[in-house]
Amino acid sequence: MEDISGKKKQPMYYFQESKSVDVQESAKLLAKASGVVALTGAGISVASGIRPFRGKGGLWEKYDPEEVANINNFIRNPAASWVALKEIMDVVEVALPNPAHLALAALEQMGILRSVITQNVDGLHQEAGNSFVIEFHGNTRRTICLECRAVYAVGEINMDSLPPYCPACDGVLKPDAVFFGETIPRTALEQARTEIQSCRIALVIGTSGMVEPAASLPFLARDYNAVVIEINPERSFLTPRVDYFLEGRAEEVLPLLVEQIKNLAGK
Ligand code: OAD
Repeated sequence: MEDISGKKKQPMYYFQESKSVDVQESAKLLAKASGVVALTGAGISVASGIRPFRGKGGLWEKYDPEEVANINNFIRNPAASWVALKEIMDVVEVALPNPAHLALAALEQMGILRSVITQNVDGLHQEAGNSFVIEFHGNTRRTICLECRAVYAVGEINMDSLPPYCPACDGVLKPDAVFFGETIPRTALEQARTEIQSCRIALVIGTSGMVEPAASLPFLARDYNAVVIEINPERSFLTPRVDYFLEGRAEEVLPLLVEQIKNLAGK
């Protein structure tokens, strides 16, 4: 197996003593790359105060997604779902990009990162400055009318009583996020596949790799000969099949990578 540096490549997993080696190796690869794509999950927004879905302290310890974010339940009883969803949306509304988001924006500025495919619904990559962000699971800063499909920014609609209704047709408004029982927006799916199939390096950050079809994207990248670098403080479902596993928090590892890339490039 060869990597883009032309060297023979063995999968490298993180052990305490090899962590800095893996970060250095990854920085070297990234420094000379251009078609890099990032796939992000809830872990990248933890430092912005948004809890992840799974694991300790996860969002789903409090709410059962099959209830509050299930499209059939929502249609049956939108008011009940909205009470929980509003609580989550209020946290997202005030969250700010953290050093991990800013590092990805810096990688784009440096001509290295081409696009971000995110499973997050918080809009923080755009706020950090990334220009091509594929929202795989939608965005809760928007709502969509179940009847006429009109889309409104959350700030534009009246939330005094729940559920909110469409100002145009009086249909029920739903957060513009993908719910259980719904499919991935077609454009997002097509764009993500195109980006992944043509990238040289896939950076997989803060995702447990448990939800399809997003979880298959790193493997698709590998099938198309990309190097896959994962950043996560814990091993995920993806870890056994990535090329480099940088064990650590995104808000620490990504700025470190950017710093090392700058040093390598003499910037
Ligand atoms: P999960 O909550 O399943 O996984 C979060 C991952 O982030 C875990 O692997 C954590 O170890 C890791 N993590 C925690 N803190 C981190 C940090 N500071 N830096 C980096 N990583 C960290 O979230 P997702 O994989 O994004 O779908 O979940 C996928 C989808 O499941 C979500 O998009 C959501 C849910 O169903 C929809 O809403 C449609």
